[in-house]
Amino acid sequence: MDRLTVVILAAGEGKRMRSRQPKVLHPLCGRPLIGYSLRTARALADRIVLVVGAHAAGVRAAAGDGVTIVEQRERLGTGHAVLQARAACGGGTILVLPADAPLLSGETLERLVQHHQATGAVATVLTAVVDRPQGYGRILRQGGRVKRIVEDRDATDDQKKIREINTSVYCFEARRLWKALAEVKPDNDQGEYYLTDVIGVLAKAGGRLEALATPDPVEALGINDRKQLAAVAALQRRRILDRLMAAGVTILDPASTWVEDTVTIGPDTTIYPQVLIEGPTTIGSDCVIAAGCQVSASRLGDGVTLKPYCVLGEAVVEDGATLGPFCHLRPLSHVGPRAKVGNFVELKKSRIGRGAKVPHLSYVGDATVGEDANVGAGTITCNYDGVAKHETRIGDRAFIGTNTSLVAPLTIGEGAYIGAGSTITKDVPAGALAVGRGHQVVREGWAANRAAKRPPVGGAGGRAAAAPPQPDDD
Ligand code: UD1
Ligand code: CA
Repeated sequence: MDRLTVVILAAGEGKRMRSRQPKVLHPLCGRPLIGYSLRTARALADRIVLVVGAHAAGVRAAAGDGVTIVEQRERLGTGHAVLQARAACGGGTILVLPADAPLLSGETLERLVQHHQATGAVATVLTAVVDRPQGYGRILRQGGRVKRIVEDRDATDDQKKIREINTSVYCFEARRLWKALAEVKPDNDQGEYYLTDVIGVLAKAGGRLEALATPDPVEALGINDRKQLAAVAALQRRRILDRLMAAGVTILDPASTWVEDTVTIGPDTTIYPQVLIEGPTTIGSDCVIAAGCQVSASRLGDGVTLKPYCVLGEAVVEDGATLGPFCHLRPLSHVGPRAKVGNFVELKKSRIGRGAKVPHLSYVGDATVGEDANVGAGTITCNYDGVAKHETRIGDRAFIGTNTSLVAPLTIGEGAYIGAGSTITKDVPAGALAVGRGHQVVREGWAANRAAKRPPVGGAGGRAAAAPPQPDDD
């Protein structure tokens, strides 16, 4: 096999997106558009050259290692963009990829390169036969052979009827490409140097031109505006779900489930309807993600259960833990193995130990909860004094009674008990009981005594003794 250089064109302004952000940085199912062409290029290429526009720091940053970046200072068209890559390319085969066609598959590109090299063509175009060719360049053939590509805006009414389109993916024999590019002129509707014109130049020079159609025309879909972005995202979303289901994940309602391209999920995990899983998230096997959950940039072990409507961001949940319904794990929350975080509980920057329970209505922030500790309903860590955040440490097997306020900084020792309704402001040693609340006062017969002191209502024989205290008494 010849040496293969992939040139990715990513310098276009993306005017039709009407965005301040370069088109290729717009996310598609959690990955910037440019990430898709880079991923397929990496699987094939000996060398990758990325053509970026001026002021494209974000695009450069997204490129990662092993990519040569060249700049196209003036956006004078796709032909001009390829020309900027010349010095970085070397000889052999050049595969040109647009950065705005994320559904192109690695297999299709591999077949294109093989076909190109096996036939000894000077250029091979990847085409697609589509129902709605509007907006794409059309393939003009003569006697079955490719002769030229005409852009939609330059096409005659008859040419516009052609359904075989240019995908903007081509293989070239390097030397012939540079020679042909030198002859391309900007004599078209946009006054740009079109890479498509190279095909006509090569055909005229008598070189062998080949074309290969994508097996699935959706691979050709390019993204030029936000409507196309949404349409391609819908297709990519379905591909992701199909891939997960093929790998053993049960997805009860693919129509309402969103899983980004950056997510991995283990087998025998079940995803209920209306779930969104995004960012670099890893979910183990045998998990249950119930309806309405949103999981972002988090790591879940095996056998984790998320009951309905849990929201997780940058959290870690270890094997066998149970969360929700309705819990909120904010960044740097870590739930240990088999721990339980229940209804209406919010965690922030906190560790919940192995087997510990925070079952109901709590806020736990900047805290460590020890193994097998029990944090009663309504417990709040008072972590913020209006200026700084302070930490709470709860020891292993400690028992925090219901409706406790833990005023940080604070340490509750191992196996200590806190009486329900306490406000705890001082450290509690291991094994101690702390109660911080008003003493309960009981006055027996109080109600009757009070009633006896009141004048009878309605004169003698009234029912004063039986009257309950009124709200405005006292
Ligand atoms: C291009 C093709 C068209 C094809 C379609 C497939 C040309 C002239 N037309 O049209 O035949 O059917 O793709 O989707 O090539 N770019 C640069 N520098 C530039 C201009 C563009 O790097 O000066 C990059 C863009 O970032 C993009 C790619 O080249 O990744 C294609 O450019 P775009 O403007 O999207 O071309 P289309 O109009 O879609
Ligand atoms: Ca395009």
